[in-house]
Amino acid sequence: MPPATGRWLVLGAEGLLGSALATVASADPRIRAVHRAGRAQADITRTAETERLLRAVRPDVVVNAAVFTGVGPCEADPARAYEVNAVGARRVARACADAGARCVYISTDYVFDGTGPGPYDETAPPRPLLTYGLSKLAGEHETLNASPGHLVVRTAALFGPPPPGERRRAGFVEQILGRAAAGRRADVIDTLVMSPTYTADLARMVVELLAADADGGPYHVTNEGSATWYGLAHAVVSGLGLGALPRPATPGAGTAGPARPAATPLTSVRLPPRVRRLNRPWRDALAEFLREHGPDALAAARSAPPLPDAP
Ligand SMILES: NC(=O)c1ccc[n+]([C@@H]2O[C@H](COP(=O)([O-])OP(=O)(O)OC[C@H]3O[C@@H](n4cnc5c(N)ncnc54)[C@H](OP(=O)(O)O)[C@@H]3O)[C@@H](O)[C@H]2O)c1
Repeated sequence: MPPATGRWLVLGAEGLLGSALATVASADPRIRAVHRAGRAQADITRTAETERLLRAVRPDVVVNAAVFTGVGPCEADPARAYEVNAVGARRVARACADAGARCVYISTDYVFDGTGPGPYDETAPPRPLLTYGLSKLAGEHETLNASPGHLVVRTAALFGPPPPGERRRAGFVEQILGRAAAGRRADVIDTLVMSPTYTADLARMVVELLAADADGGPYHVTNEGSATWYGLAHAVVSGLGLGALPRPATPGAGTAGPARPAATPLTSVRLPPRVRRLNRPWRDALAEFLREHGPDALAAARSAPPLPDAP
């Protein structure tokens, strides 16, 4: 097994999670070098480009955080969803196996149907309802088929500092802050339950998982506890002392698109104790995020489009 603490390559490094992973890994003295690749450096739908990058970087670890995301966009363009999330994942995972690198495929709670009983651990059988989750489950299989030493990290409802750059997608928290900053109250779904997760905490746990030389296969990595999207939005807006608190909504009251999984909180029975020790309740993680990044996130949010699209 290659040293997990050697050279890292982060794909999707300009995204919400990829940027946090690259930042946390770069600050870890056990990791020798971190190479960040956005879509311009490696489009994972292009085989030659992906393989060329791996040959040039010669990584020990490749974190695949590149994704075609959003429930609506994936339903509208399933071919693209599969091309990036499944076939792209195969390309990356096979190139890693050929190069002797460990691949970490980031996946989602939406591989579960949300009918419970939750919370879901790694032994629960996946049953995605939507193209997004179906394409991600296919990506999981492709990754683990390429090598049993590869890892799948399922996570959920991410919040964190917005990545720099023009091309970034506005995250849920930014969208909520955008409304609140404009003095508008958002109607947010109060029926879907998930595990809110701070990107910095997730990144630290992924680094530790690799440093622990954890066995291959799936891992659930989220902050502790669960909330509805409304609960998360309320905690964000009230945590920053903004007046325009969100209102709880139910599907049908101003929401469109296919039904999403109802309750997908995650828990883990596989995380090594040294990784588990780094975890904390999501409200504690959110408080730290708002303390350290709240004002910047608020500023970035003012230009975000006002459409919550929770992955
Ligand atoms: N955000 C959440 O709440 C959430 C919840 C559960 C799981 N996850 C998982 O977490 C991972 C990261 O999600 P995220 O929220 O950080 O997404 P994100 O902010 O949208 O970032 C994804 C990045 O992937 C890049 N990308 C898209 N197509 C690509 C391609 N063909 N080749 C290379 N790069 C490509 C995007 O670049 P462009 O902008 O140029 O397209 C973007 O920078 C995903 O696996 C996702 O399924 C996220």
